Amino acid sequence: MALWAGRFTKEIDSRTNDFNSSIRFDARMYKEDITGSIAHATMLAQQGIIGADDVKQIVTELPKIMQEIEDGTLPFDPNAEDIHMFVEAELTKRIGDAGKRLHTARSRNDQVALDIRMYLKKECAEIIGMLKEMTAVFCQQAQEHLETVMPGYTHLQRAQPITFAHHLMAYANMFLRDIERMEQAAVRMNVLPLGSGALAGTTYPIDRTKVADLLGFDSITQNSLDGVSDRDFCIDVAAAVSTIMMHLSRFSEEVILWCSWEFKFVELDDAFATGSSIMPQKKNPDITELVRGKTGRVYGDLMTLLTMMKGLPLAYNKDMQEDKEAVFDAVDTVKLCIKTVIPMVQTMRVINENMRAAAAKGFINATDCADYLVKKGLPFRDAYKITGTLVAYCIECSLTLETVPLEVYQQACSSFEKDVYEAISLETCVKERKVAGGPAPQAVQQQIDYVMQKLQENT
Ligand code: ARG
Repeated sequence: MALWAGRFTKEIDSRTNDFNSSIRFDARMYKEDITGSIAHATMLAQQGIIGADDVKQIVTELPKIMQEIEDGTLPFDPNAEDIHMFVEAELTKRIGDAGKRLHTARSRNDQVALDIRMYLKKECAEIIGMLKEMTAVFCQQAQEHLETVMPGYTHLQRAQPITFAHHLMAYANMFLRDIERMEQAAVRMNVLPLGSGALAGTTYPIDRTKVADLLGFDSITQNSLDGVSDRDFCIDVAAAVSTIMMHLSRFSEEVILWCSWEFKFVELDDAFATGSSIMPQKKNPDITELVRGKTGRVYGDLMTLLTMMKGLPLAYNKDMQEDKEAVFDAVDTVKLCIKTVIPMVQTMRVINENMRAAAAKGFINATDCADYLVKKGLPFRDAYKITGTLVAYCIECSLTLETVPLEVYQQACSSFEKDVYEAISLETCVKERKVAGGPAPQAVQQQIDYVMQKLQENT
């Protein structure tokens, strides 16, 4: 019999029950549900709303239920409507009337709003920890490759020389913003909805702030309708997680390219790649392809939440039960991805020579060649044009700017002197880009130091 069976004359149809039930996906909030109930009961007793004896039984029995769930000795009842009903029914089975008093001054609507917030607060903290670990790994790899010259690209065309460290630190900066977004989501959801009741608060003299203190919330929600019908915090998390996935997916795409024979900039450790069932030569970057693929799925979760909420009148509607599978899937997926990417990046072998060779082939020092002429007094547009002619000549004769003879340079422009070779060497091109944020080793070292410093904050 359902706890709400009073006004019904029939048992619920088993198909309706299965359709309606959320226990198979909300059972994972058992800890939050029980912890929330202990705080609620404690407050009820302090306010004289339920007796000291009742609360004693409640707060003694609930931790036992939690322990048994954890030990696996208390299995979830698949027929229960949801985790809230399951815990309450189990409690009542054990302690009778005292258990029936737990739900005084509370509705499942504010209870579920509380549980998800508590659950996601914990998840945010975990994801932030994982993001920090991943960012540190990127910094460590960068530290090893301050001098590893590679081509930087625009339009996937070789553009200007950078270093592998510089490239990695671009991602480290994205991850810093991801951490910030997760922190902001966690702060915004740290508001206690309990006490909103079903939608219109309660007539009992409850102390919401007391419960907020007990459960570690910064404050309480200011409007009971909003308290029970707000799922912005789920959307915040799914949006922040989608952005993390977008970053991971861009990185994955690059790793996939880099692992190809066309690039061969990196080689994944055997433990983080897979083979083919038919082609013996294959070593596939499956991890990164899956990360890229799972990004779509997380975007889908965000879209599920946004679409689910867009037409709902205030306050609670059962549609909102759909929030959990989406937001849980988003956080589960991002954690899985980060957990796998960390050791993959840690162990991947960078093939410096191939990066260097690719950098040498693409005329990526052409800007520096033009800048050389500018330093000799030519206007940039003229210098640009002269260099363009030289590049065209090189392409025709299969030469590079490093190998074309000085006479050719001087025919193109009399300002060229022998020192042009030094000026356009890839090492010089990188070393001279020492502007803050640039690829020069000392500039990237500053980026690494800054990011590492940021990671230390609030840990
Ligand atoms: N299982 C429900 C959910 O996840 C709990 C709230 C149910 N409230 C209600 N009035 N039926 O949304």
